[in-house]
Amino acid sequence: MSDVLVCVRDYELRARQILPKSVFDYYFSGADEQETLRDNVAAFKRWCFYPRVLRDVSTVDLSTTVLGQRVSLPICVSATAMQRMAHPDGETATARACLSSGTGMMLSSWSTSSIEEVCEAAPGGVRWLQLYIYKDRALTQSLVRRAEDAGYKGIFITVDTPYLGRRRDDVRNRFKLPSHLRMANFESPDLAFSKKEGYGEDSGLAVYVTQAIDAAVRWQDIGWLKTLTKLPVVVKGVLTAEDAKEALKYGVDGILVSNHGARQLDGVPATIDALPEVVAAVGGQVEVFMDGGVRMGSDVLKALALGAKAVFIGRPVLWALACQGEKGVSDVLEMLREELHLALALTGCRSLKEVNRSLLRRPELISRI
Ligand code: GLV
Repeated sequence: MSDVLVCVRDYELRARQILPKSVFDYYFSGADEQETLRDNVAAFKRWCFYPRVLRDVSTVDLSTTVLGQRVSLPICVSATAMQRMAHPDGETATARACLSSGTGMMLSSWSTSSIEEVCEAAPGGVRWLQLYIYKDRALTQSLVRRAEDAGYKGIFITVDTPYLGRRRDDVRNRFKLPSHLRMANFESPDLAFSKKEGYGEDSGLAVYVTQAIDAAVRWQDIGWLKTLTKLPVVVKGVLTAEDAKEALKYGVDGILVSNHGARQLDGVPATIDALPEVVAAVGGQVEVFMDGGVRMGSDVLKALALGAKAVFIGRPVLWALACQGEKGVSDVLEMLREELHLALALTGCRSLKEVNRSLLRRPELISRI
């Protein structure tokens, strides 16, 4: 393999060589047969661009806002857990790279650097906290409070994980956090996923989720979360128009169309395929975002054309971290920026305001008409 890394796939291949097998497998895996994992990427290819030409694209503006925060490009970093398994600097490196690229970072509650450490590592960065609703509501509330105190700009509440999806390699590997690490937002070994024993012959994380996360959460709990904080609340993990409308009833400030990187229920749609129905149901009332399968700037443009305000990337950041820490993440963000810039210019768009549904068609659907 060449030493020059020119696309996200190059970083993935390199990361596979660098990372311990159980770590790579944990980051890479989707649920069960991994059909949705493959489809998250493949589904982008089913959309084709129908570009416009001769529109003076000598300057192209990629900036936008996400939940009221200005970002220099519509590509933010999604929550991925336990980033110090990828690189010793973990989430602090990601935070510094996001700050220097002028974009936002969603920090996982299951981070190996704490809410406060991340803030100190990159003061002034735009950050949101991803949250699970723990059985212990006081603990859940304290995470929200800490995010507020540390200047985070919103809460992304994960709604697709009453139990952890079944990732076969994690079961085979009996996946656990390496013993020198802990989920840094929690004190007790039980909650920090740092117990030495007690995870049985299973994915340790699946056991952890069953023990700690509340499988009884309902829409009313989103109402409860809204009463706890003035920060914007985004539901992460919506795939249907019905749930999007439900979310609006509970006053959410945004919807992230996500299938959790295809790690929860195998056989759900690729997120790019679920996006249009959610966008239509929301009717512009709140911002809609997507994650899942974004590997190129042109994927980002497709998501924006189908109505996403911005996209979030997960695995590309992990591969970048594994390869080169903070520099890797900065380089991947800049690479995606350049790819998106080129895709906009080649479709005849000078800014994100000019991006709309008319850029895209599904050839196989058109031929059936
Ligand atoms: C964490 O959110 C995971 O999917 O493992």
